[in-house]
Amino acid sequence: MIYRAFFHLVLRWLPAELAHRLAFFALRLLVVVPGLAWLFSRWLRPSAPELRVRALGLEFPGPVGMAAGFDKDAEVYQALAALGFGHVEVGTVTAQAQPGNPRPRLFRLPADRALLNRMGFNNHGARSAAERLRGKRSVPIGVNIGKTKIVPAEQATADYVASAELLGPLADYVVVNVSSPNTPGLRELQAVEKLGPLLREVRTALDRVSPARRVPLLVKIAPDLAEADIDAVTDMALELGLDGIVLCNTTLSRAGLHTAAAKVEALGAGGLSGRPLRERSLAILRRVRARTGERLVLISVGGVENAHDVRERLSAGATLVQLYSAFVYEGPFLLRRIHRALRAEMAR
Ligand SMILES: Cc1cc2nc3c(=O)[nH]c(=O)nc-3n(C[C@H](O)[C@H](O)[C@H](O)COP(=O)(O)O)c2cc1C
Repeated sequence: MIYRAFFHLVLRWLPAELAHRLAFFALRLLVVVPGLAWLFSRWLRPSAPELRVRALGLEFPGPVGMAAGFDKDAEVYQALAALGFGHVEVGTVTAQAQPGNPRPRLFRLPADRALLNRMGFNNHGARSAAERLRGKRSVPIGVNIGKTKIVPAEQATADYVASAELLGPLADYVVVNVSSPNTPGLRELQAVEKLGPLLREVRTALDRVSPARRVPLLVKIAPDLAEADIDAVTDMALELGLDGIVLCNTTLSRAGLHTAAAKVEALGAGGLSGRPLRERSLAILRRVRARTGERLVLISVGGVENAHDVRERLSAGATLVQLYSAFVYEGPFLLRRIHRALRAEMAR
C-alpha cells in the first residue's frame, strides 16, 4: 500500500534509472546501518520450513530469488535477503569494468507492467565484485557472468574464464549469461557449436579454482530462441553435465503490448521484461522440463508477479523462481505477500 502510493506519487515521475538509484540507496542503508537488515529480516524473511527448497546442494529459505541485473555489483545482496528473497543472482559481472550504454537506457511501460532496458552490462568488473562477495550472506548467492563488450568474439571464452576464476570460489552457483540482447554478438554464443566449448572451459576453470567444492554451473537463455534451438541447448546442458538452466532473459519482441506502438518505438532498442514475458517464459519452462525430466535444476524467470505465478511455475517444473520487474512495480513487501499467500494455500 505505502509503496504503491509512493510509486504513483513519486517514483513513476522520475527517470527509471534515477528511481532505481534511489531504491538502491535505501537498500544500501540496510546494509550499512547496524542491525537494520536484521530487523527487516525478522519481519520479512520466510521462516516457514514448508517454503524451503533444496537444490544445487544448497538450502534456499524460499523459492523466489532476485533475478540478475538488479544487484550488478554485489552491493545489496544482504538487503535483498532481508526483504525475503530466497537467493540473489548478482551480476551480470564482466571480467573488465565497463560503463554500459549511454543513458537513458531503462524505461517503464506501466500499462504493460513491463520494463525495457539496454543497460549493456554496466558494472565494476569481476575483481571488484569478488571483494564484495566476501561479505556475510544469509541466502545462496549466484553469480551471473557475461562477456566484456570490448573483448572480441574470438576471445570470449578467455573472458568468461577470467570471471569464473575470480568469482567461482565465492559463488554458490555460477550462471553463464549468453542471452542479453544488449551486448553486440552475445546471443550468437547460444549456438551449440560455440556454447559447448565455452561451457566446457568454464566448467574446467571452476574445478581448477575450487577443487574442494564443485561449484554448480548453469546457463541463462533468451526467450527469442526458436524451439529447436531451445531443445539443442537443453540436450547440450544434459550432455555436458550442467547443473541447470535459467530461463529466460529479456525479449526483443514487442508483440501484444498495451503501450502505444509509437511510444514503444521511440524508446529504441532493448530487452523487454515483466508481464509481456510471462506466457513465453512459462511455455519455455514446460518445454524444457518435459525434455529433461528431473535431471536439471530449472530457474524460471520472466513475468512472475505474485504467489499465483510462483505456484504456477513450481507446478510447471521450476525448481526455483526469480523476478525483477514486479519488484519495481510492487516494492519491498512483495516477497512477504507472496510467502503469506503461498503458506495460506499450503495450509488449506
Ligand atoms: C534493468 C534490467 C537489467 C537486467 N540486467 C540483466 C543482467 O545484467 N544479466 C542478466 O542475466 N539478466 C538481466 N536482466 C534480466 C532479468 O534477470 C530477467 O531475466 C528478466 O528481467 C525477466 O524477469 P522479470 O520479468 O521478472 O523482470 C535485466 C533485467 C532488467 C529489467
